[in-house]
Amino acid sequence: MPLILFAAPDLWPDYAALLPEALHAAGIKAKIVTQTDDPGAVDYVIYAPSAPLQDFTPFKSCKAVLSLWAGVERVAPNPTLTQPLCRMVDSGLTEGMVEWVVGHTLRHHLGMDRHIVNPSRQWNPTCPPLARERKVAMLGMGALGTACARGLSALNFCVTGWSRTAKDIPGIACLQGEAGLQAAVYDADIVVTLLPKTPQTENLLNATRLSWLKPGAVILNPGRGALIDEKALLAALDAGLGHATLDVFRTEPLPADHPFWAHPKITITPHIAADTRPRGAVRMLVENIRRSEAGEALLHLVDRRLGY
Ligand code: NDP
Ligand code: OXD
Repeated sequence: MPLILFAAPDLWPDYAALLPEALHAAGIKAKIVTQTDDPGAVDYVIYAPSAPLQDFTPFKSCKAVLSLWAGVERVAPNPTLTQPLCRMVDSGLTEGMVEWVVGHTLRHHLGMDRHIVNPSRQWNPTCPPLARERKVAMLGMGALGTACARGLSALNFCVTGWSRTAKDIPGIACLQGEAGLQAAVYDADIVVTLLPKTPQTENLLNATRLSWLKPGAVILNPGRGALIDEKALLAALDAGLGHATLDVFRTEPLPADHPFWAHPKITITPHIAADTRPRGAVRMLVENIRRSEAGEALLHLVDRRLGY
């Protein structure tokens, strides 16, 4: 059974080493290639959405396209993709995202910057409040948002989630709809955006919704750049919003002349919040291949109508 991997060449050695082992352990006989003269014979496409492949038409017998990324906005709308598309959910991505979100939340919660950069040697013994006195709004309560919400909640932060569909998560209220979004963000100290980019979420935080946030509130965006209206964000920061820590951008790498770089209330991290780790990812890939071969339902199947 031929599997083809479309991903950056620096990832090939890891997958070439780990996939055969995991496939063998699952009793699946497969050959992994990175090029083919016979795309019609390929059974599964393992795909990083940054890969140049854009035309899936030649992969006529392909049973599924398995994304190495969690975010599939670059591939889900592709009209040549008629095969089922699965997104990546892996423990490495989840752990990495929890660490990034918890770390940046703690930075703002504890006011760390005040002490790290203190050129005038001010002795300011103001103690930060406890986490239980801080409200965090987690916009997006999927695989990553839920794990981050749980991580923050375990540190006693008062977390409210927001998602498209209702959730029942012990200790974390989860709201829906426009009114739920307003309720989640209006008294939040920290707002985390962990949603996919879809036509419905683009510019979710526009000028109107940014005006719901209280002065001094902090935004953490490890989701996608398009979730926030850039001009509205700059205006909101100038008008009293506390800070924005951004990991993702409409254009990546963020152009050197982009106003975000110079803004004193913006911290930029270069799309490093979480990464797919090949060891965890192969478990997910092989499990979906096994399911497909056994006629079972695929995990993390993308709903092309919703775009995630
Ligand atoms: P999931 O698909 O598991 O979760 C998406 C969440 O967003 C769900 O809770 C979903 O609601 C919610 N959502 C989607 N559309 C809407 C809407 N219109 N209104 C309200 N809620 C909505 O995705 P993950 O948690 O795995 O990943 C989230 C995103 O994180 C990815 O799409 C990607 O863009 C980004 N990411 C960034 C990385 C980085 O390094 N910066 C790394 C990995 C991912 P519901 O639960 O009701 O369906
Ligand atoms: C992803 C990402 O979507 O790295 O997996 O952003």
